[in-house]
Amino acid sequence: MKFAVVGAGVIGDLHAATISNLPGAEVAAVVDVQFDRAQDLAGRHQARALRDIAQALSLPDIDAVAICTPSGEHADLVVAALQAGKHVVVEKPLDVLVAAAGRVAVAERDSGKRVTVISQHRFDPSSQVVREALSAGRLGRVTSGSASISWWRSQAYYDSAGWRGTWAMDGGGALMNQGIHTIDLLVWFLGKPLEVFAWTGLLAHERIEVEDTAVATIRFESGALGVIHATTSAYPGLNARLQVHADRGSAIIDNDELVYFHAARQGDIGPDVGSGSPDNQAAAVLGAEPAWAGPRTAGLRPTSHAAQYQDFLRSVADDRPPLVTVAEATRTLAVIAAIYESASTGRPVLVGDADGSGESGQGSSGLAHARQHDAP
Ligand SMILES: NC(=O)c1ccc[n+]([C@@H]2O[C@H](COP(=O)([O-])OP(=O)(O)OC[C@H]3O[C@@H](n4cnc5c(N)ncnc54)[C@H](O)[C@@H]3O)[C@@H](O)[C@H]2O)c1
Repeated sequence: MKFAVVGAGVIGDLHAATISNLPGAEVAAVVDVQFDRAQDLAGRHQARALRDIAQALSLPDIDAVAICTPSGEHADLVVAALQAGKHVVVEKPLDVLVAAAGRVAVAERDSGKRVTVISQHRFDPSSQVVREALSAGRLGRVTSGSASISWWRSQAYYDSAGWRGTWAMDGGGALMNQGIHTIDLLVWFLGKPLEVFAWTGLLAHERIEVEDTAVATIRFESGALGVIHATTSAYPGLNARLQVHADRGSAIIDNDELVYFHAARQGDIGPDVGSGSPDNQAAAVLGAEPAWAGPRTAGLRPTSHAAQYQDFLRSVADDRPPLVTVAEATRTLAVIAAIYESASTGRPVLVGDADGSGESGQGSSGLAHARQHDAP
């Protein structure tokens, strides 16, 4: 599959390296409105350098595009690529607007082409093990979960590109840009989200419109309850931690590693009073279930981006949906939009459906975009 990488910044570089290392894929073109960036990256991959995505879309030998531009441009570029008959890999978030994500869903359906939205941590072996255990019911009934992202981004980071920290192009701050990975895993593990309540703050940065700290509670259709904490103000930058708890087991992923896993064995009665996390089965389950290993290529560091690309190539070859679909990415986007709306209005907000229809009942659907509100 011949790719055009659109956006030759921080993540475009990784996409080009990932594609070049995959059997059956190559970088045929690199597009950047800052043409020197396109030239530099294209030069390292023996590809054409272009200034405008339209040039790449008009080339019949380009099969797919990888959209690596600022988030607020994602949906427009994805729709243009689909309408030109190209498959698409798009960086997270799918867009900054849930409504724009809906336009992508329509364009994908009409084009018959495939879209995957990068959520590379779904491909981490630890995430795969936990998801598999939950799907198989090995942890029992899920009762609660938490996603906590304690990262640091300096003022220089926010100042490094004009789009960072803006509602229009970044779509949000610690939640939309950084926390989205861990929130996506929480939603993937705990199922359909129903309602959130949140506070956000801008506490350790200036000259940005969005939050650098957020806390939220979330309620799922299953009855499970969750807590979300995301900050880019935790100096010097610590961990991303995800906990899932159920009545027959628990799992903890810390910085992408499965640091704790316990599933009750058949016949286990368990303690009447439990604390202190005994009997850690993490090493055993990871060893026994290498999960989504995928083919390993000599010289390729099997990053999670590479695993997601492999899934995408197979989805096109086998004519089946990729693991991270537009609907899945839209659901996570809707959770974050609902959190912003709650923080802005001071009220609990129902999470809209991935199809954009929203929940019935009191409150709003969380489908509105955060920039329609004052920055919290
Ligand atoms: N999955 C991850 O872990 C991860 C990590 C970093 C960034 N991202 C995502 O990747 C995207 C880009 O982030 P970044 O840090 O690489 O940004 P960046 O500012 O480093 O690079 C973006 C590039 O896109 C170019 N560009 C802008 N509009 C364009 C257009 N219409 N056509 C062609 N080129 C255009 C810019 O000139 C710039 O070179 C964001 O959506 C971000 O959320 C994901």
